[in-house]
Amino acid sequence: MILGIETSCDETAAALVTEEGEIRASVVASQAELHARYGGVVPEVASRRHLELVTPVIRETLGVAGATLDDVDRIAVTQGPGLIGALLVGLAAAKALAWSRRLPLVPVDHLDGHVASLYLQPEPLEPPFLCLLASGGHTMLLDVRSHTERELLGTTLDDAAGEAFDKGARLLGLGYPGGREIDRLAQDGDPAAYAFPVARVPGLDFSFSGLKTALLYAVRDLGEEELAERRADLAASYQHAIVRALVERTQEAARQAGRDRIAIVGGVAANSELRASLPAAIAAPLSLCTDNAAMIASAARWTEPVAYPRYLALDAYASR
Ligand code: KG4
Ligand code: ZN
Repeated sequence: MILGIETSCDETAAALVTEEGEIRASVVASQAELHARYGGVVPEVASRRHLELVTPVIRETLGVAGATLDDVDRIAVTQGPGLIGALLVGLAAAKALAWSRRLPLVPVDHLDGHVASLYLQPEPLEPPFLCLLASGGHTMLLDVRSHTERELLGTTLDDAAGEAFDKGARLLGLGYPGGREIDRLAQDGDPAAYAFPVARVPGLDFSFSGLKTALLYAVRDLGEEELAERRADLAASYQHAIVRALVERTQEAARQAGRDRIAIVGGVAANSELRASLPAAIAAPLSLCTDNAAMIASAARWTEPVAYPRYLALDAYASR
């Protein structure tokens, strides 16, 4: 069994996954409430909380699976990208556990992890496919050719799609994390109420910063009472603009790459309008869309392990 550990942002997560991709246990301790009052993740607060949570979360994971460390064959951990202080907590925990048991350690790229969420049981997807990876930190179109080969076809020139959701939610006075809040509120709104512009950048890239400014102006023009009345319409229209941009570019990328299957991963893949707009797309279950450690353990199945004790020298990376 592979023990996965993920601490790249504000979720402390551990999971036990078999070589065949069966999840025996997956525990996610979200710190969202802790950061909500600041309207976003505070890196230093996240690191400290990871430090408190990482051991209990790993212990609980073993408990859920009815396993002990004797059942673990290798340890997988997110090496980057993410918040450097947060990553270091998971990496140090993984090194300590692996070293104490003389186990190999597998350093996993967080983005490989999101893609590998599709390779888990009960319905593992087989490459090739076109993948939209949309999270709080990244928006990427990937031509996934095999478990180990992929080509980046497009990315965002400014904000990530999840970041656009989070910033929009803030402008609308909604809680953090904002994507889920906008998604919920949009159900009661009219997506055609406001015509928010979607930047048309060349190629298969995205740009979301202009959209955010358009929302800012729309909100500014309204009084407090009016805003309360129009909030659902604003959320629905704003979400619609983001989803339209994602869907158009994803379909275009699939056409260009000659892929007939589209998969969506990352936190934004949990969005109900996105899922409805790409009905044929393959999406991981909601719990595997947002950050978790099962996807990290899954990716480790195709990542070269580092032997004992060489991994003690590994460092985390904030960006690629
Ligand atoms: O993949 P993830 O959990 O963490 C990163 O790697 O960033 O993605 C988090 C992002 C946040 O920006 C959050 O607002 C967004 O995913 N998100 C959503 C939804 N659920 C989470 N965005 C839109 N609709 C949702 N239902
Ligand atoms: Zn993520």
